[in-house]
Amino acid sequence: MKECLKGIVKSIYIYSSFVFSRGRSFLKKWIASRGGSASYWTEHMVVTEDFQSRESSFAYFHWRNDQYLDYINLMPVDGQDDKVVLDYGCGPGNDLVGFVEYSKPRKLIAVDVSKTALDAARKRLLLHGYDIEYIHVDEKENKIPLDDCSVDYIHTSGVLHHCLNMDAVLEEFQRVLKPDGEVSVMVYHYNSIWVHLYVAYILQIKQKKFSELPLLEAFKRSTDGPHCPISHCYTPTDFLAIAEQHGFSGECRGSAISMMEMNCLPERFRAIENRRLHEEQRKFLCSLTFNEKGLPLYKGVVAGIDACYCLKKLGV
Ligand SMILES: C[S@@+](CC[C@H](N)C(=O)[O-])C[C@H]1O[C@@H](n2cnc3c(N)ncnc32)[C@H](O)[C@@H]1O
Repeated sequence: MKECLKGIVKSIYIYSSFVFSRGRSFLKKWIASRGGSASYWTEHMVVTEDFQSRESSFAYFHWRNDQYLDYINLMPVDGQDDKVVLDYGCGPGNDLVGFVEYSKPRKLIAVDVSKTALDAARKRLLLHGYDIEYIHVDEKENKIPLDDCSVDYIHTSGVLHHCLNMDAVLEEFQRVLKPDGEVSVMVYHYNSIWVHLYVAYILQIKQKKFSELPLLEAFKRSTDGPHCPISHCYTPTDFLAIAEQHGFSGECRGSAISMMEMNCLPERFRAIENRRLHEEQRKFLCSLTFNEKGLPLYKGVVAGIDACYCLKKLGV
């Protein structure tokens, strides 16, 4: 009897500690999301692993790239020897690892609104033997403290769609980029399995999550945690039009698709059958074709969440 009681007390203790710690982390993220993007990204990092060696950090770099098919070809980190390279919104430094391992930039500059992310990036790059320049920016002003026309290459992956003021960021890119410089951008893709199958069908209809919300509001909650304050997605036409307003011409290089989306693909037939799926999503899913690798295409472009662009200054 005594043993049984002890067991019950222990189970209650373990369960309540679990609920309390989950609740506390949930609360912290919720509070952070109220404070805007910067405070959210201070609490929420894309990688939380505490790497202890160059090998483990490098192994993670490769693993993460493989989670988004073709990502590393669409957002390359090689070929930047002797260049001034800026990783805008570097987060905890995954792509910075790529730049130091696969290029020999003259200068590598890491920028982010989150001091936690910059600290994590610094610690990680030290494992690779590099101490580079880290710059903290304010998310409202977005002023990059660098001279006009001083950067050869800007890499910004998974960042612009989270920015409070993307226009201000693109203006700064236009100012700091050299006339013959180049920007590589990855932003979330509207024409994706993520939007039209995962959010519209799997989350909203099948799992009844965020069902009451408009599609793009549900999308916002589906990408980087339910409390992420800003998360947009764009069609290539829309994103290139925004870039053009800021003096850039560009092209969509293609799109990287996540394993999550590939795992959802078999559900597309159930989704098409479902009378509650909106016509736009049904038409999207009905029109998919597949390339030789088995990846789904929409209007000839892989229907993955990571749309990748190359931008150059207009008129160059
Ligand atoms: C999804 S993470 C991507 C991190 C990294 N680029 C990667 O691919 O692993 C988004 C990053 O953008 C940063 N961020 C959000 N708004 C920003 C802004 N206005 N200026 C600079 N960085 C910003 C966040 O702090 C966060 O580190």
